[in-house]
Amino acid sequence: MKKVITYGTFDLFHQGHYNLLKRAKELGDYLIVGVTTEHFDEARGKVNVIDSVLERVDNVRKTGLADEIIIEDHNGQKIEDIQKYGIDIFTVGSDWIGTFDYLNNFCKVVYLERTPDISSTMLRKSRFKIVNMGIVGTGRIAPRFVSEAKYVSGINITCAYNPQRESGKRFQRKYDIECETGEYEEFLNKVDAVYIASTNETHYDYVKRALLAGKHVLSEKPVAFTKEETIELYLLAKEKKLVLIEGVKTAYCPGFQQLINVARSGKIGEICDVEACFSRLAALESRERSDEKFGGSFLEFGGYSLLPIIKLMGSDYKEIRIDSVHGEKGIDLYTKIQLLYEQGMATAKMGVGVKSEGQLVIAGTKGYILAQSPWWLTKKFEVRYEDPNKVETYEPSFQGDGLRYEISEFVSKINGYGKNGYKLTAEESIAMAEITELFMKKRNEEQTGYYNQVDKE
Ligand code: CTP
Repeated sequence: MKKVITYGTFDLFHQGHYNLLKRAKELGDYLIVGVTTEHFDEARGKVNVIDSVLERVDNVRKTGLADEIIIEDHNGQKIEDIQKYGIDIFTVGSDWIGTFDYLNNFCKVVYLERTPDISSTMLRKSRFKIVNMGIVGTGRIAPRFVSEAKYVSGINITCAYNPQRESGKRFQRKYDIECETGEYEEFLNKVDAVYIASTNETHYDYVKRALLAGKHVLSEKPVAFTKEETIELYLLAKEKKLVLIEGVKTAYCPGFQQLINVARSGKIGEICDVEACFSRLAALESRERSDEKFGGSFLEFGGYSLLPIIKLMGSDYKEIRIDSVHGEKGIDLYTKIQLLYEQGMATAKMGVGVKSEGQLVIAGTKGYILAQSPWWLTKKFEVRYEDPNKVETYEPSFQGDGLRYEISEFVSKINGYGKNGYKLTAEESIAMAEITELFMKKRNEEQTGYYNQVDKE
């Protein structure tokens, strides 16, 4: 019996897939089809797959051509499968010519002619309306957004807004953006959705005006400085049936979701303590270290350090304590937030003028999870136990600088997919806003004290 194997994503199952499976089957007597998991696809850079793995398996099954369907979830699996199943022929479409020649050492490799003019990518594009996206603010993060957006289908960056026209114009020229303007209303008229990457104090107003104008919004954190304003924005988005997501990029990284799920799975027992730290020394003249009202470590990194805490421990804390080490003008160079829960505790630390170990430790009754810097991109984490020899290492997929996952989530939501925003819910954003509000209040009081003191002197 001649055994044939082929692999694919088979998203939005189409005629090209059918033809390929039919020809693959004709190459032998028994056909095994490997269907990729979401994780494996993400690792390969396919971040916009629409059908779930079960739907994709089901579609392959319905052709009646596969004698056996298996799941492909890791690199190197093809060689394992070929040996395990005693495969005679490995086959894929001609778009892969050359890529799998190395398998000739294990079986015969056949590239079958690809059906012209059809692909999942084309179908995804026709299903997804192209989102014309505008960028508010053309500072440090905007260029990263442009380069990462290239990896997400269904999005065009069409306009840049910056009241400081020179910066906007430079950005437009450098990144070849169609339009640039310093008028917000004019800008909003040109786009379907906006990415807010301006300075912290402007987010709320820009988000609100964009929503009122009927535009979807992806906003850098924090969306607003108070709980009430944050609730107002999420309600407004809901009422207008628009997507509003907060750009805490860690929340959308595949590895972070896996880490949270491993923590919730009971592997480490009851979760009792979450400690998260993110510090990056900023230059003295940087906004983080010089803007006494809207700079500082909390506003820079608080969203990251609080995220795993709010996700795992919730927002129902009994006590909260916020302490900072201040630099000039009362700016927080280092902030520590300690939360006390009914059943546990948590600490979030962040620094722009103080350096510490950037790690995430989740302590449980049976073991703990350790994710070392840069845990906020979550490329690797370990589950450790009392027995130091027992360590489970996870190395989830991670591409680029991570922004593409948040952009992809945004585009999927605009297109009506991924309705359950479990990656970062409005409630979680609001819980973080509540802490932001407490922090801002405390800092204002401390700064007022500082200025009073200076006045006296
Ligand atoms: N295939 C084909 N003809 C097409 C499209 C795909 O023969 N028009 C083949 C591929 O070469 C591969 C298999 O079908 O062997 C599964 O491909 P997959 O990557 O799932 O489909 P694509 O439509 O190529 O997906 P995408 O656009 O996401 O790359």
